[in-house]
Amino acid sequence: MSDDKLIRLDMGKNVYHEHNVDGGRPILCLGIESSCDETSAAIVDSDRNILAHIIYSQIPEHQKYGGVVPELAARAHILAIDEVVRQTLDKANKKISDIDVIAATAGPGLIGGVLVGWMAATGIAQSTGKPLVAVNHLEGHALVPRLQATSASGSDEDSSVDFPYLLMLASGGHCQILLVRNVGEYELIGQTLDDSAGEAFDKVAKMLGLGYPGGPIVDKCAKLGNPTAFEFPRPLCDKPGCDFSFSGIKTAARTFLAKIPAPYSEKVINDFCASFQASVVDCIINRLNHAMHDDRVLTAQPKTLVVAGGVAKNSAIRSAMEQLAGRYNMQFAAPPMSLCTDNGAMIAWAGLENYKLGKVLTKPIAPRPRWPLTEL
Ligand code: KG4
Ligand code: ZN
Repeated sequence: MSDDKLIRLDMGKNVYHEHNVDGGRPILCLGIESSCDETSAAIVDSDRNILAHIIYSQIPEHQKYGGVVPELAARAHILAIDEVVRQTLDKANKKISDIDVIAATAGPGLIGGVLVGWMAATGIAQSTGKPLVAVNHLEGHALVPRLQATSASGSDEDSSVDFPYLLMLASGGHCQILLVRNVGEYELIGQTLDDSAGEAFDKVAKMLGLGYPGGPIVDKCAKLGNPTAFEFPRPLCDKPGCDFSFSGIKTAARTFLAKIPAPYSEKVINDFCASFQASVVDCIINRLNHAMHDDRVLTAQPKTLVVAGGVAKNSAIRSAMEQLAGRYNMQFAAPPMSLCTDNGAMIAWAGLENYKLGKVLTKPIAPRPRWPLTEL
């Protein structure tokens, strides 16, 4: 079977699309996300409206294991995907024929889950003849502040971010500083040499017996604790460059806790979370400070410092980054809380941004468990 029969596309590569279609109507994109433990779909238009957004979180299914179990996640996506897409269309009061473009995460992520969303999107595109965009999950996080952005406090202030911008991308699987020049143009300024920031939050929460996912619980407890009670290290902060390392912080956490008899008191938990979080914040600010002096950043002169990814929900990280941006006369932006962790709206938006540049699929692709942004 020839490629064009497998996916019937009405647009070819590098065909640029106007912002609006059909006499001024905005372009409508259905986005599907299934790369980890959220089955999500959204309909977003090119005027930056989210018409409908459904997120089915599998957290309760994974909680008793203290983390995401890939096999269970894939099965849960299969059971949820049809209903999530149907409800999204219903909520937006749209039929599939009203949608202009379909987008889905094609990696990186847990491949069993990615395949479920990707095959659902491929099926919809094939049966309707709609164009299909393969979205890199990290690009979804990286571009969503252009759909909606807020201040550090997460207020509803509605603005969007222009290129180029300096991005701190911190999620459960990734920790990178990127210079975002344009859609598809990402320059890696620094990255973690071991764990991601989200992983460190989740592991520390697990050691304290606080449950999964750890980030939101540690964030909450940290607000009540003393950030100087435990002396956590600041790995790499005395070194040049913009790379991160969180494994030393995790080891320190284990060593401290080995000396404290369980069960831990509320005070110990709060102080521990506050001290751990302070070390993560310091590392992020130290590395971003170095990034500000990187030749590529100095030349590009980004006007906005942005944080995105699940860890961008962290209140201490948001406010420390806002202060840093102020010191460099930059704006600070973060997605609203609901668009930080994995969601279909960020995939729909990244799909739209790619679609407008003509980046639609002209032949089938295999989803990728690993897919660095710099390979786009
Ligand atoms: O982006 P995301 O939903 O999934 C990945 O693509 O990995 O990020 C999930 C991560 C988890 O590690 C979770 O603990 C962390 O984001 N997270 C937070 C907060 N809320 C979620 N970390 C720190 N503070 C938070 N408030
Ligand atoms: Zn993510």
